[in-house]
Amino acid sequence: MSRRTDRPAALVRATPALAPALAAIHASAFPPDEVWDEGVIALLTDSPGGSGWFDPRGGFCLARVAADEAEILTLAVLPERRRQGIAARLLAAAMAAAAGRGARRMLLEVAESNQAARMLYAAAGFRPVGRRVCYYASGEDALVLAALLAPSPDGLPPDGLPPEPAA
Ligand SMILES: CC(C)(COP(=O)(O)OP(=O)(O)OC[C@H]1O[C@@H](n2cnc3c(N)ncnc32)[C@H](O)[C@@H]1OP(=O)(O)O)[C@@H](O)C(=O)NCCC(=O)NCCS
Repeated sequence: MSRRTDRPAALVRATPALAPALAAIHASAFPPDEVWDEGVIALLTDSPGGSGWFDPRGGFCLARVAADEAEILTLAVLPERRRQGIAARLLAAAMAAAAGRGARRMLLEVAESNQAARMLYAAAGFRPVGRRVCYYASGEDALVLAALLAPSPDGLPPDGLPPEPAA
């Protein structure tokens, strides 16, 4: 007899093969002039220092590590799947993976009016460190947020994450 558990499905490493699914989530989450197509997403999942995580419930994030600094490139959750902790889990995975690769700090940009994302990032330890004027196609400013990353004690990925590929 199988036992039912309420644990969400494990995160999956984002690869170019997942780009169509990730692009569909991106299109559902951002205004049309901010949407990234499959080609861009496939390139970013496969770029040097790039990595990403897909939650099969309907969310993903892409990040990049360069030397000791990491960056969240995008983070999106299907509208009907929000407030279930999906983004918080993806962000924690990206932060842990970046720390495991030696990054000490993570940066990102967020629209000043994006209260949902700002609350999410603040809860994860991000604080404003700058502003990019007229950053978005709408003319809105972006806030630059940064968080210090806790060093990975044993260099291992956190529970539930597939291992990083060999460099
Ligand atoms: C921002 C976004 C990624 C959040 O995804 P999510 O899966 O709903 O977020 P979570 O469920 O993990 O929320 C974690 C915490 O963030 C905060 N938060 C998330 N959405 C919020 C909202 N609409 N209002 C206020 N706080 C919010 C809360 O503190 C929440 O914890 P709680 O639910 O226990 O109160 C999602 O709304 C989204 O895809 N938005 C459009 C794309 C976007 O803005 N991406 C970020 C660009 S920088």
